[in-house]
Amino acid sequence: MQLQQQALLRQKLLVLGSLAIGSLLYLVARVGSLDRLQPTCPLDGGLRPPDAGQIPLRSLQFKRGLLLHELRKGNATPEHVRLQQRLVQQLPRAIIIGVRKGGTRALLEMLNLHPAVVKASQEIHFFDNDQNYARGIDWYRGKMPFSFPHQITIEKSPAYFITEEVPERIFKMNSSIKLLVIVREPTTRAVSDYTQVLEGKERKNKTYHKFEELAVDGATCEVNTKYKAVRTSIYTKHLERWLNFFPAEQFHVVDGDRLIADPLPELQLVERFLDLPARISQYNLYFNATRGFYCLRFNVVFNKCLAGSKGRTHPDVDAAVVDKLQRFFHPFNRKFYQITGRTFNWP
Ligand SMILES: *[C@@H]1O[C@H](CO)[C@@H](O)[C@H](O)[C@H]1NC(C)=O
Ligand SMILES: *[C@@H]1O[C@H](CO)[C@@H](O)[C@H](O)[C@H]1NC(C)=O
Ligand SMILES: *[C@@H]1O[C@H](CO)[C@@H](O)[C@H](O)[C@H]1NC(C)=O
Repeated sequence: MQLQQQALLRQKLLVLGSLAIGSLLYLVARVGSLDRLQPTCPLDGGLRPPDAGQIPLRSLQFKRGLLLHELRKGNATPEHVRLQQRLVQQLPRAIIIGVRKGGTRALLEMLNLHPAVVKASQEIHFFDNDQNYARGIDWYRGKMPFSFPHQITIEKSPAYFITEEVPERIFKMNSSIKLLVIVREPTTRAVSDYTQVLEGKERKNKTYHKFEELAVDGATCEVNTKYKAVRTSIYTKHLERWLNFFPAEQFHVVDGDRLIADPLPELQLVERFLDLPARISQYNLYFNATRGFYCLRFNVVFNKCLAGSKGRTHPDVDAAVVDKLQRFFHPFNRKFYQITGRTFNWP
């Protein structure tokens, strides 16, 4: 009894102490160095049953920061070591599977504001790249960031959504995993997709076709469905492949246009979908008028704006081609609304 009380007191003190210096140390964890930290102890055996239930989530984030700080300074106490032993690399509980240019990076970074969410910083390309997939699930787990057992890891690789083999492979890992799909109006997305490729070519001083030449077949004047930027925007076609493996309830569709214009309501929907307590607030998101979009505020000292390339301007596209594409996507969009239960005011 006495021991239990002492343990509880110690835990409370730890939480209080963490809160006090947490803001600063929390940065350490947040700048991604955690991803590189190697555990000095084997994870099995050293693991205790999580007693995290009683500790507020936010303080756990602070604890992670504190822990790393002390470890780096080389003066880790037994308590630190005990905590470090509880850090694990976990397979993702949710994956942002796409779509390319839909806002996958923004979504991942914004979800990372939640104290119970840990993001894999890089796109892993485990399920869509045969070579990576052949390396096996332990290789994949090894790419995951360190987290406490009750936290959830999220990764994003936009190519997953359109790659044929991916649904089955993810199903084999975890058939009840949660899948996030972030979409934008299909024609806008196709132009954005084109723009990114174009910029890559320009950087290498290479010329590239005009969007209109790629999106419309010159011989038939029909929309060119062989063009990847067009194909990717036929969301329902890809989703239907996924539905051969996962029920519709395991997907949540995020409105990428709204996430940029007004992020909080979209993030709250995702919190609910992931069964997370609502912790992301307006405080975490502030509008930067210079950039014209939202930046993230983790706490009083640490904030982050998304990379500049995310706001690139699109080339002017022939209005007739835009119209043709919008008409082309229309029936696919209707089907997509039907399947997902989420309606957009796309043309
Ligand atoms: C699979 O994913 C679900 C949903 O996130 C999670 O509850 C479950 O623990 C996962 N199973 C395994 C074996 O990781
Ligand atoms: C591209 O062309 C410009 C002007 O001709 C030249 O200054 C630059 O070095 C070139 N860049 C590359 C990557 O070849
Ligand atoms: C807003 O954006 C501008 C331009 O990118 C940047 O220089 C500035 O630091 C940002 N301000 C805040 C408060 O994030």
